[in-house]
Amino acid sequence: MEKFENIILIMIGQHRILQEDLGLVAMEITTNKDPRGAEIVKYLDKFKKDLMEHLHLENDVFYVELIRRIKAKNEDLDSVDIIEGFITEMEKIGDVVVAFLEKYKTAENIDNAMEDFKTEFFPIVKTLNTRIQFEEGHVYTYWDLYE
Ligand SMILES: [Fe+2]
Repeated sequence: MEKFENIILIMIGQHRILQEDLGLVAMEITTNKDPRGAEIVKYLDKFKKDLMEHLHLENDVFYVELIRRIKAKNEDLDSVDIIEGFITEMEKIGDVVVAFLEKYKTAENIDNAMEDFKTEFFPIVKTLNTRIQFEEGHVYTYWDLYE
């Protein structure tokens, strides 16, 4: 199962990179008196690329394999329900983040609504951090149980 070697460590590493990407946006809007949409969109584009890569690994590889392993054990179908519940919750959070990125996908969109952007940005960071903490503290711990 080479494909899954270190998958948890890789996903945790991706989480740190996502948080760093958003940290650069936070820096621009908190330390620059006149924040630049062109800079922000550059960071958000990188964030989006990193996010898509992460969601692919997490949703299409990790969760799929986790469910498969639990079902293979066949004794613990309650866990399948729990994990499927997590997946639904995590997808909702992902959708909120993707909608935000879509709204502010150009420098113009950001420059024309900088105050709105600032107001909406920090709750997005908080939402993403909540998801990350829940995954690392809870969801990922199921992996070791079904190796
Ligand atoms: Fe994640």
